[in-house]
Parts: sequence; structure tokens; C-alpha cells
Amino acid sequence: MNAIAYRVDPRRGRDGLTTRVQHIPEPGPAQVVVRVRAASLNRRDLLLMAGTYPVPMRPGAVPLVDGVGEVIAKGDTVTRAEIGDRVTGTYFVHWVDGRQTHALGSQQYGANFDGWLADYIVLEEDSVVHPPEHLTDAEAACLTCAGVVAWAGIATPTPVAPGETVLTVGTGPVALFAVRHAKMFGARVVSITSSPEKAARLREIGADEVVDRCATPDWERAVLELTGGEGVEHVIDAVGMPTLPKSLAAAGYNARVNLIGAFPAPTGQGLADPLGAKYLSLRRPAVGSRADFEAMNSALDEHGVRPVLDRVFPFERAVDAFRHFEEGDPFGKVVITMA
Ligand SMILES: NC(=O)c1ccc[n+]([C@@H]2O[C@H](COP(=O)([O-])OP(=O)(O)OC[C@H]3O[C@@H](n4cnc5c(N)ncnc54)[C@H](OP(=O)(O)O)[C@@H]3O)[C@@H](O)[C@H]2O)c1
Repeated sequence: MNAIAYRVDPRRGRDGLTTRVQHIPEPGPAQVVVRVRAASLNRRDLLLMAGTYPVPMRPGAVPLVDGVGEVIAKGDTVTRAEIGDRVTGTYFVHWVDGRQTHALGSQQYGANFDGWLADYIVLEEDSVVHPPEHLTDAEAACLTCAGVVAWAGIATPTPVAPGETVLTVGTGPVALFAVRHAKMFGARVVSITSSPEKAARLREIGADEVVDRCATPDWERAVLELTGGEGVEHVIDAVGMPTLPKSLAAAGYNARVNLIGAFPAPTGQGLADPLGAKYLSLRRPAVGSRADFEAMNSALDEHGVRPVLDRVFPFERAVDAFRHFEEGDPFGKVVITMA
């Protein structure tokens, strides 16, 4: 049977996603070839396909930055992986550790380097990461983007401290990982969502308090009340400008606010002096380095923590997976398996 890769014609959305025969690649000296077992979707994949992501998609590139598979060939100088290893990959092709430069941030799998929605992927050795062994392939295919950026927000530059309160906003995979990561560090988690069903599921995965933003539009006041008027020490806003003003209002003095979500503000609602005089730190982490990814994996391993999966689709129904991701309001990761 021929190997297959999905390819993207950018700006045509799901209609631009077509399959082509893939020749089994040969590794360069510092590369590994991976037989893909599973991959998963992220919001950025839709933005790339719509032509609205900061890095343009190379026409004909293979999409998806999250995946897992088995190394079937390696270059002569590769020492970080052996044939037969189960591996995943980083988001940025060569960002190993330290500060990210613009050049390092510009090279991304599933954008200008071929991604995981294929039978085979070529990874640079710098990108190779070994996922925690306790995870299934579908679970191990969910870590690269949402898992690592949530880790960056919760654990870098210093981890949240036990007993501190973390506010998570939204229930996409970033927010769900943030809940799990925050609980690993012993924090108290207050989560914001949009329905009683999602509130119940957030409690199941570890949230201590949940506020339904539809039932309680002034949710920032509810969060202040839950913190005795002090506000939270940490925010993971995984929505964006629609929720940032309330996230800032719910934050305490000197809080660390991670604005991870990239949803734009509703039309006509500009922001005026969003920071006030709280001397809080507002930042937008860019996923994370390989070192962040490996630190997260050690913690997942130690605590036996798993990602939240919504639904798994077979490879030949990848377009349905994109449709479900976009229209089905998933709770957890949408995964595609190759086997
Ligand atoms: N900086 C980075 O490195 C990085 C990495 C990954 C993702 N991101 C960004 O982070 C965001 C979250 O990504 P994701 O993959 O976790 O999930 P996602 O699928 O983009 O998140 C969707 C969730 O956000 C909430 N939401 C959506 N629109 C909203 C609105 N107008 N007001 C309030 N809540 C709203 C909803 O949760 P409820 O129904 O529970 O409210 C929804 O389920 C995206 O914008 C993504 O582009 C950034």
C-alpha cells in the first residue's frame, strides 16, 4: 500500500486539504524519519489553513504540529534517538532551550516544515522528544502545542507555588492542560467556562471552583469573592481579548497573567489601560522550548497525568476531524490515528 500525506493549499480551509502519495523519505545526517502513529489538531492549524497565522503556510506543506510515531531511519550523526524509539516533536524546529529568537520562532512543523498528518515525517534531531511512557499513542500525540504552552504558563520562569490560586479561562486544550499542570504543583484552580456540562467536566479533571460565564457574566467579581477580595496570583487566559479585561480584573497585585488565547476582541470593543496599577506581569508565551517540553514530560511521568481527549478519528477521515474540531465544540484534544 502506498504511503499517504495530506497537503494544504493555504487559504482554501478544509477544501484545500487533499491527499497525495508520499515517498518514504531518506534522513539527512542530523534527521530521523518517523512512521507516524497519531496526530492531533490545534487552533493554529485552522489559522494556518486560513492564511491568518503570523507564519505563512508553505503551499503543499503537510499540516499539524502535534504527533507521535516510531523512528524507522536515522542520519549518521544522530545520537538523541534510536531506530524503534517512540518519539514526538517540538513545535519549533530548532528551539532547544533559552530565549527564543525571531529566527527560531519562524521555523515550525505543519507550517513551513512538513508536519504530522502523513504516514511519515522527517524530524530534525533538535526536535526529537521522547514522550512519557504511560501515555497511549493518541495521548502522546497531544502534548507539543497545548501541553507545552500551558506548561510555560504554569511552570516558567518559576512554577506556581502550592496554595497559590490559578485562574484558567476557556476549556480548549490549553486551559485543560493548565488545570492539570497547576494541580501537579499543588495550586488551587478556579476555572471559567460557558456551560454546566463543561463545568462538571472541569471539576472531574481537577478544577476546585468553576464559574459559568454565561450564568455569571460578572465572573471576575465571582473570582475576587472566591479569593477573599485579593484576586488570583496566576492567570492562564486561553481565550484572548474577549476575556482579557475580566482576567485582569480578577488578577491580584503583582499577579502573573499569561495571555495565551489569540481570539480577537469583539468589534468595537477596544481596550483602555488594561493593566491599571497592579504591577502585574502580562506575557504571551510562545509555546515552549525542547527543554520546557522535556521538563513537562518528567512531571507528567512522575504524577501519571494524561491529556484530556475528546475524540479519535481514523487517518482517512482527517477532514471530518477538522470539521469536528471547528464546529463540534470539543472538550479535549481531537486526535487522528494512522494505524
Ligand atoms: N501562544 C501560544 O503559544 C499558543 C499555543 C496554543 C494555543 N494558543 C491559542 O490559545 C487559544 C486556545 O487554544 P486551545 O487550543 O486551547 O483551544 P480552542 O479550541 O481555541 O479554545 C476554545 C475555547 O475557548 C473558549 N472561548 C472561545 N471563544 C470565546 C469567547 N469569545 N469568550 C470566551 N471564551 C471563549 C471556549 O471555552 P468555554 O466554552 O469553556 O468558554 C472554547 O471551548 C487559541 O486562541 C490558540 O490560538 C496559543
